[in-house]
Amino acid sequence: MKDSSTFEFSIGAFRTTVTFSEDFPSIPDDPVLVVQDEHTAVLFPYPETQRVIIPSGEEGKNWHSIEKILGRALARGLERRSLFVGIGGGVVCDVTAFAASLYMRGARLHLVPTTLLAMVDASFGGKTAINFQGWKNMVGTFYPAEQIWIHPKVLKTLPERELRSGMAEVIKSAMLMDAELFQLLEGIAEQGGSLKNLSLGTYETLIRRSLLVKAFYVTKDLREQELRAHLNLGHTFGHGLESATHFQRYTHGEAVAWGLYRAMDAGLSLRVTEPAYGKRVQALLTKFGYAERVSGVRTEEILNAMQQDKKKRGTLRFLLQRTLGDTVLTTLDPDLVKQVIERGLEP
Ligand SMILES: NC(=O)c1ccc[n+]([C@@H]2O[C@H](COP(=O)([O-])OP(=O)(O)OC[C@H]3O[C@@H](n4cnc5c(N)ncnc54)[C@H](O)[C@@H]3O)[C@@H](O)[C@H]2O)c1
Repeated sequence: MKDSSTFEFSIGAFRTTVTFSEDFPSIPDDPVLVVQDEHTAVLFPYPETQRVIIPSGEEGKNWHSIEKILGRALARGLERRSLFVGIGGGVVCDVTAFAASLYMRGARLHLVPTTLLAMVDASFGGKTAINFQGWKNMVGTFYPAEQIWIHPKVLKTLPERELRSGMAEVIKSAMLMDAELFQLLEGIAEQGGSLKNLSLGTYETLIRRSLLVKAFYVTKDLREQELRAHLNLGHTFGHGLESATHFQRYTHGEAVAWGLYRAMDAGLSLRVTEPAYGKRVQALLTKFGYAERVSGVRTEEILNAMQQDKKKRGTLRFLLQRTLGDTVLTTLDPDLVKQVIERGLEP
């Protein structure tokens, strides 16, 4: 990577600085509370007195973690202007940000995302959350970090499957509004091979361009009144699959990629999506190794999970695309939804 570069964004009443850094960021001295999960605690050691460790994965995304973080902050005498630093994937970012937003009505917040998914999506944009009573991301706040450090070298230890999970969000970002990024992804897919072999420079470009796409939406619509919903391209079907399989069988990105196939299928069926574009997206997803058809789950289970989502969101809306950069938020006929899901399952 070349020189470190910095971007500043206004998100609602907040300002977020994103810095790409060649070195692991140095965490300011006390008063500070570092939050990590069991894996990032081992990878990036900090003095025990300064940190809290939460369980890895969705298991750590609950009230217990929040209580633990707030309790430690209080015990260490952190004040309102003290700093919380989350070092980890999307789970650590969501949980640290939620705890920081609550502590004395809002402590300072820095995030060091260490998964590709957290770099391109979860750390940026201000959504914080924990899972509650079986509902994913049901309780949370809007609280953008004041500083996000992107240090792509940390991706070196990330398993291939987690890299592929983050790559689905990169593909989604390209589809929303970045034709050059889409072409770059097609070039990468064409070469084949492991995502672990991509250069740090390539990762930096993928991350930077994805963040700029997300910034376009969140700087205009922090609280997801309308425009920000476009970031959910592929997510209505994807959440249905994730939820029907209890967030255990598929990573977030694998489910989103399946949702992108489904969104293309629905758009092609309705003649909304340009056939050449729909096929291009499907070919890209396939070359990256995402499953177009999944097994071990029934249409009804996915439909039920989507109905649960409907309870949470009011109406069940879907994002279709006419072509790259031309996205439509719409409702769909329930029969079509069923057929589209069925076509995404192994017979
Ligand atoms: N707030 C938002 O806008 C937003 C957006 C997208 C996703 N999310 C949330 O993000 C979460 C998913 O994030 P995720 O995919 O990063 O999952 P994750 O945080 O569970 O991380 C995946 C795994 O990678 C490990 N890990 C982290 N960094 C590593 C590294 N450098 N090397 C090796 N292992 C490492 C973690 O310990 C974990 O086991 C979900 O809970 C989702 O709801 C939030």
